[in-house]
Amino acid sequence: MNQLLAGKKGIIFGALNSESIAWKVAELCHAQGAQIVLTNAPIAMRMGEINHLADAIQAPVISADATSLEDLNNLLDQSVEHFGGKIDFILHSIGMSVNVRKNRPYTDLNYDFLHKGWDVSAVSFHKLLQTAYQKDCISEWGSVLALSYMAAQRSFPDYNDMAENKAYLESIARSFGYHYGIKRNVRINTISQSPTLTTAGSGVKGFMGFLAFAEKMSPLGNATAEDCANYCIAMFSDLTKRVTMQNLYNDGGFSMMGVSQEVLDRYMEGGDE
Ligand SMILES: NC(=O)c1ccc[n+]([C@@H]2O[C@H](COP(=O)([O-])OP(=O)(O)OC[C@H]3O[C@@H](n4cnc5c(N)ncnc54)[C@H](O)[C@@H]3O)[C@@H](O)[C@H]2O)c1
Repeated sequence: MNQLLAGKKGIIFGALNSESIAWKVAELCHAQGAQIVLTNAPIAMRMGEINHLADAIQAPVISADATSLEDLNNLLDQSVEHFGGKIDFILHSIGMSVNVRKNRPYTDLNYDFLHKGWDVSAVSFHKLLQTAYQKDCISEWGSVLALSYMAAQRSFPDYNDMAENKAYLESIARSFGYHYGIKRNVRINTISQSPTLTTAGSGVKGFMGFLAFAEKMSPLGNATAEDCANYCIAMFSDLTKRVTMQNLYNDGGFSMMGVSQEVLDRYMEGGDE
C-alpha cells in the first residue's frame, strides 16, 4: 500500500454491513495509513455488524443520527478529542427514502415520507458541514465527500424521490464548497457512483435491471464498491488538493453514453443491417 493517507484522520458515515460502500472505504483508508472514527445511526448500531469493522481497523464507533444537530455536535467533539486534533477528511455515505421503502410510486408520494428522506439523504450533509464549519474542526486542505447517483441529472423511473435528494446533495457540495474553500481551503465534492449491490441499492425497485443495463452501457463496466473506495482515497489524499465543488462520475463511462452496441444489438433481432 502507498500510505497515501499516512497521518490523516477521518470520519466515515454509513458502514452498515460488509456490502456497504462506506465499509470498503473505511478498510482502504485504514490500509492507506489513516486513523478512522466510524459512525452510523443508532438503529444501524443495534444490528452490530459495524463492531467487526471497528475491531479490524481499530476505530471507535460513535453513534449519530445524521439529521440531529445534537448528535453531530457530539460526534465532531468526540472525534476531535479522540484524534487529539482536527479532522482531515469525512465521508457522508447516507441515503434513505421512506417512499422507496414503502413502495410509494413517484406519482403518489407521501410528503411526510418525502420530508424525512430529504432530511436524511440531503440536508444531513448541510447539517454536518455547518456544524463542522462553526466548530472550525476540519484541517486546512481537508476533504469532504458525499456519494451520489446520476438520477440527479437523468430520469430513472424507479429511483423515485431519491433523484431530487441527490440533486439537492450535489448542490450543497457546490454551495458549501465555496464557503468552506474561502474559510479554510476545505474541498467538498460528490462522487456519482455506478449502481452497486448494497442494502440501500437493492431497496430500489428494478435494481437488478439498473445494474445489468448500466453494465452493458458502460465501456469500462460498472464501478464496484472497491473502485469507489479507491476514488475516495485519491480524493482524501493531498494529490487532489484543488478539486472542489465537483460532482465526479465513477461509473465506467455510463454518464457520457448514448447507446452501446451491446444494448443496441438487443433491438436488432430482425437483422437490420
Ligand atoms: N448502492 C448503489 O447503487 C449506490 C449508487 C450510487 C450512490 N449510492 C449512495 O451511496 C451511499 C451509501 O449507500 P450504500 O449503497 O453503501 O448502502 P448502505 O445501505 O450500506 O448505506 C446507507 C447507510 O445510510 C445510513 N443511514 C440511514 N439513515 C441514517 C441516519 N439518519 N443517520 C446516519 N446514517 C443513516 C444507514 O444506516 C446505512 O449505513 C448512499 O448515499 C447511496 O445513495 C449508492
